[in-house]
Amino acid sequence: MKVWKSITVFFVAIFLLIVSVYGQESPTNAKIETLLSRMTLEDKIGQLNQHSGFSEDEIEAVKQGQIGSLLNVAGAEQTNRIQRMAVEESRMGIPILFGIDVIHGFRTIFPIPLAQACAWDPDLVRQIEAIAAKEARAAGIHWTFSPMVDIARDARWGRIAEGAGEDPYLGSVLAAARVQGFQGMDVSSSQSIMACVKHYVAYGQADAGRDYNRVDVSRKTLYEIYLPPFKAGVEAGVMSVMSAFNTISGIPATANPFTLREVLRGQWGFGGFVVSDWGSIQELVVHGFAANGADAAQKALQAGVDMDMMGHIYGSHLLELVCTGDVPSSLVDEAVRRILTAKAALGLFDQPYVDPDKEGDILLHKDHLAYARHAAGRSMVLLKNENHLLPLHKNMKSIAVIGPLFDSKDDYLGTWACMGRSEDVVTILEGLRNNVSSGTTIQYAKGCNVLDEDNTDFAEAVTIAEQSDVVIAVVGESCDMSGEAASRTQLDLPGKQRELLEALHETGTPIVVVLMNGRPLSIPWVAEHIPAILEIWHPGVQGGNAVADVLLGDTNPSGKLTVSFPWTVGQCPIYYNHENTGRPADENKYTSKYLDCPDTPLFPFGHGLSYTTFEYGNLRLSQDAIERDGTLTVRADITNTGAVEGEEIVQLYIRDMIASLVRPVKELKGFQKIHLRPGEKKTVEFSIGPKETGFYDPEGRFIVQPGDFKLWIAWNSADGLEGQFRLQ
Ligand code: NOJ
Repeated sequence: MKVWKSITVFFVAIFLLIVSVYGQESPTNAKIETLLSRMTLEDKIGQLNQHSGFSEDEIEAVKQGQIGSLLNVAGAEQTNRIQRMAVEESRMGIPILFGIDVIHGFRTIFPIPLAQACAWDPDLVRQIEAIAAKEARAAGIHWTFSPMVDIARDARWGRIAEGAGEDPYLGSVLAAARVQGFQGMDVSSSQSIMACVKHYVAYGQADAGRDYNRVDVSRKTLYEIYLPPFKAGVEAGVMSVMSAFNTISGIPATANPFTLREVLRGQWGFGGFVVSDWGSIQELVVHGFAANGADAAQKALQAGVDMDMMGHIYGSHLLELVCTGDVPSSLVDEAVRRILTAKAALGLFDQPYVDPDKEGDILLHKDHLAYARHAAGRSMVLLKNENHLLPLHKNMKSIAVIGPLFDSKDDYLGTWACMGRSEDVVTILEGLRNNVSSGTTIQYAKGCNVLDEDNTDFAEAVTIAEQSDVVIAVVGESCDMSGEAASRTQLDLPGKQRELLEALHETGTPIVVVLMNGRPLSIPWVAEHIPAILEIWHPGVQGGNAVADVLLGDTNPSGKLTVSFPWTVGQCPIYYNHENTGRPADENKYTSKYLDCPDTPLFPFGHGLSYTTFEYGNLRLSQDAIERDGTLTVRADITNTGAVEGEEIVQLYIRDMIASLVRPVKELKGFQKIHLRPGEKKTVEFSIGPKETGFYDPEGRFIVQPGDFKLWIAWNSADGLEGQFRLQ
């Protein structure tokens, strides 16, 4: 893995150099101006249109220059064929931009983004996106609608699977890394594609976790929680942004001048282009915000949406709107200029085609598969491991593999699996068979399905559990139960799975629950009765091998949760960085709590175990007090007190005790992943300065106020070594 690391460092350095020159006046800009001056209004509007798929009926539209971008068309041969029509047969010869949702891999499918985030490792996600970009580009793709950087605090919302979880700091670090991974050191190269941060903005706060639902959010929460990962993406040089489906306090995100013009372009200086979400311009009418298609086109363009994804609204209405003077032609020019600039940066005017002979060698390359296995192992979170049940001995006599998901290939891919195929998947059954010793007998039985209420197969599962030394029960959600349009009102194990576990528990055979799911689940019974729980999420094509690596001790788990696990769905939304109430929960009845459930989560943000143990000690601060623009250093010693080597994610939290706006009870401000051999001690060090102590006021100004702060160097968000300092 050392090679990957040094490649990454080199790559980031070059990337920063490119970002610093991106957007300056260059010969390319002059060429684009010349091109623009030769385009008719129809040609220009064509560039703002994006269609999905390609049918023979669209050949004429491409040749007429009426389509600037296509999504969901992939493969070197197919993209080259269509590209030839655009470049060689249309009047302006402008190449088509091909986009697709490369969410966690193109053909080599990696763990879902929520899982990847649990590795707390920007190098890892950067490398995953670099591999995804290389595969996608080889198949003629120039653009991914990723990373999804929506902060999600409500596990009912299915799209929680696509993001980094509930924390804006971690979400920002990972957003930047993903953008760097996709776009690389030279976005025109055959290794890179254009990234798109989405869904701008606050989509993760959909009311009641129901997808596409309205969002009513304060400026404070926007600046503090939802905007930061987008800002980080822009600072990392992201070339496109997707506007969201939701309303933001009454104004749809796709026609929102405040978020799109004032914040994105004004405050952050974003120079790329904005694409709508699928049909979200047209939906302005359904929201009751635009009177008709023409009104929707006008409002979206005026707010700063440059490209219409599958709405056919710009294509149908802009010509007339410009001719009547309702929309100034300069607005259209502005949008076209941005899209052409992206096409030029991608090198499409110089090399619009891909080499079909290379595609086969690049997709699913063995190095990509090896990295998928590595990434899946690092994404897994050991939630519980009583009496060191894990790791298992490789030469155990008998294992029972039970549950609806141990061999269901599709589910390993997870939501948005792009060009992933189930035949590429190594399941847990296969992974175990590949990795246990020849003397181990593996028996298996499904026991039940994920969703239905049938328990007739319990008996078979119980029988093999009784005959085995250990049960590995693979339970959770199927791949279509998270992602877009996959909200749930229940977070328990679906169907009969919990009852199956109860029946297996009765046998007395030790059970390891392997959880495969796209969101936090509420599993209090499992947490109380099952001795070992490994959260693997939807782990991708190498999931089965990676699970075997962890269960058999070849990989020591090091992931930590980036979302809180509730006891029950009734606690949602639940997140660690909440404000204090005036009546924090205590034994008094009239405090902020539930009658029937704890107010804290079942497993907190930042929680995750290892096969070794770590001791935290000797917290020390360089100063007790600093000036508002000063910086202090905080250190602690971490010792591996167990018998095997391992990695620990050390977290830094702070709390601003009194401020002009109520601050969260804890805020993550840093983390480090350290590797320790048995007995080894390392000192971790964090700096705390204005970047950490400041916050945004409702006008979006970043301010630092004097006062008392607490800090924690911690192993999760609920615990840790506590210190304090003063800002004066
Ligand atoms: C709708 C989804 O919300 C968005 O995330 C995705 O990129 C587009 N469809 C295109 O598939």
